[in-house]
Amino acid sequence: MLRATETLLVIVNCTFMFLFIPDVSSEQSTSSASEQVQSILGNSGLNCLINNAAIGFSTNISTVTPEAMMTMFQVYTVAPLFVTKAFLPLLQTAAAKSGDPGMGFHRAAVINMSSVLGSITLNCRDTAKFRSYVYCTSKAALNMLTRCLAADLEPSKILCMSLHPGWVRTDMEGPHVSTP
Ligand SMILES: *[C@@H]1O[C@H](CO)[C@@H](O)[C@H](O)[C@H]1NC(C)=O
Ligand SMILES: *[C@@H]1O[C@H](CO)[C@@H](O)[C@H](O)[C@H]1NC(C)=O
Repeated sequence: MLRATETLLVIVNCTFMFLFIPDVSSEQSTSSASEQVQSILGNSGLNCLINNAAIGFSTNISTVTPEAMMTMFQVYTVAPLFVTKAFLPLLQTAAAKSGDPGMGFHRAAVINMSSVLGSITLNCRDTAKFRSYVYCTSKAALNMLTRCLAADLEPSKILCMSLHPGWVRTDMEGPHVSTP
């Protein structure tokens, strides 16, 4: 079982809520999280969903395994899609209620925490410094997933984008990693 958690940030009338889903790979876990949020928000819908699940390990050409690849894809690519699906009705409610033109956080948005390490363009020559097969490929796939969602949800006026937040100290790196 995956131990990764998913952090959701909900912005409703300037209220922030962090929600931890114990297992983002479980449909039961994501749908019960969605129901929980629905019961708190009532009819107002959800303005912003941030997919922030993470799991930490790095693999190079010698150490990479099929299991490591599949685990990382599950957490970074597959889970964000299905968490987004579970929360889609709430996002659609918020998007439909907004009287404002255009798209954005004020209306409804899905944000994927991606990484510059998922950039194909930057994984060349001098900038190809971090070689983790599991991390780089699953983040590149997440970027495409975001594009697919953006195209699908545009008619509903739900903004979908990937962000590279920069280097953030989290449990993932452990206490001994220094900030570059
Ligand atoms: C891969 O990582 C292992 C463990 O960190 C290390 O011992 C090994 O030298 C690395 N191999 C390559 C090809 O970088
Ligand atoms: C982003 O990832 C989510 C989750 O990361 C995924 O479902 C969706 O396809 C991607 N879209 C967004 C919002 O980023």
